[in-house]
Amino acid sequence: MALVSVRFRATRALHISGTGSALAVRYVPIALQQRKIHHAVVPKGKGGRSSVSGTVATVFGATGFLGRYVVNRLGRVGSQIVIPHRCDQYDIMYLRPMGDLGQIIFLEWNPKDLDSTRRALENSNVVINLVGREWETRNFRFEDVHVNIPKDIAKLVREAGIEKFIHMSHLNADMKSPSKYLRAKAVGELAVREEFPDTIIMKSSEIFGREDRFFNHFANMRWFGGEPLISLGKKTAKQPIYVVDVAKAIISAVKDPDSNGKTYALVGPNRYLLHDLVQYLFAVAHRPFIAYPIPRPLYHLVARFFELNPFEPWTSRDKIDRFHTTDKKFPDLPGLEDLGIVPTPVEQKAIEVLRRHRRYRWLEAELEEARPAKPVNF
Ligand SMILES: NC(=O)c1ccc[n+]([C@@H]2O[C@H](COP(=O)([O-])OP(=O)(O)OC[C@H]3O[C@@H](n4cnc5c(N)ncnc54)[C@H](OP(=O)(O)O)[C@@H]3O)[C@@H](O)[C@H]2O)c1
Repeated sequence: MALVSVRFRATRALHISGTGSALAVRYVPIALQQRKIHHAVVPKGKGGRSSVSGTVATVFGATGFLGRYVVNRLGRVGSQIVIPHRCDQYDIMYLRPMGDLGQIIFLEWNPKDLDSTRRALENSNVVINLVGREWETRNFRFEDVHVNIPKDIAKLVREAGIEKFIHMSHLNADMKSPSKYLRAKAVGELAVREEFPDTIIMKSSEIFGREDRFFNHFANMRWFGGEPLISLGKKTAKQPIYVVDVAKAIISAVKDPDSNGKTYALVGPNRYLLHDLVQYLFAVAHRPFIAYPIPRPLYHLVARFFELNPFEPWTSRDKIDRFHTTDKKFPDLPGLEDLGIVPTPVEQKAIEVLRRHRRYRWLEAELEEARPAKPVNF
């Protein structure tokens, strides 16, 4: 793959200048560097962090929850990673040690400016789009984040002649979903495919991991005196996936020469009723589980109040609908196993997320005390 990309990268090279925080990226003709091709796309070394994997990847949305795991996986095999960001560079310094010296390149990015997007990807041979948002803002509606931005990236990927483009979607993306987020994700899938048919689409179920907004969301609900669940969560089945498995799937798809144009359905190994899953989360967190049924219109009314929050809202009507949507099954789509990954069970890693929700006296309590939720099959 690296050699193929070398062909269209032969005239330009990524050159980093500046010191300390003032890193700037500019493009220097190869002749000036007296090199035929840029060293970053020629694999060398034994395959570790200080070797060169031949992958130069631009990761849009690297500053989010999943982003750090993807960057970490790319960095540890010796890839060069371009991270377009819109926040202060100092806020994402934790990403810097994930790659060898000079391998992580931060680039200021404005998604509404096509030139800025083009600049971020034109020296890469892999582009990964992890941009997403659970709530709408005045500047960015769901259509902007899940349709327009991915579409622009896909278009520029095609124009730049890049062969690998991975787009992160959602398992339940559906034009008919009650959730606007999921409807926009469905439109986004069509839009990227239309612009760049070889796009690799990752349809993932809800992801859990230390910084997630799924297990942490339910665990934090204890502050409201109990867990409000529509129909007590007994009509919704969820199949959550561990964040490291999703990151591994993305890296495997980058390496797999046959992955182009495919759609992957990424889910965890077991399916649970939402009620049973949340009950298990509380058992692991050693907190009393007090669930109460709440009618959807009433829950929406409460959520409207939280939506007034100008920052990240605790919950929203859209989030309620998304969390109470039963995970789809896609038996015909390839999944984690096809990418050579063994899915991690919730019972193995939930403690990573939930230990911080325990009281001090239970901090080191054995996991065996929490009875695992019974898997279901609908
Ligand atoms: N987490 C899940 O359970 C889950 C499940 C299925 C699919 N997904 C999808 O997987 C992807 C990554 O999820 P995540 O949980 O890592 O999301 P996240 O933590 O919310 O991170 C989202 C990333 O997108 C960027 N972003 C959001 N709005 C943007 C905008 N208007 N312009 C530029 N950048 C913007 C954020 O940048 P800033 O830091 O600058 O805001 C951040 O880097 C998303 O597409 C999400 O929809 C997630």
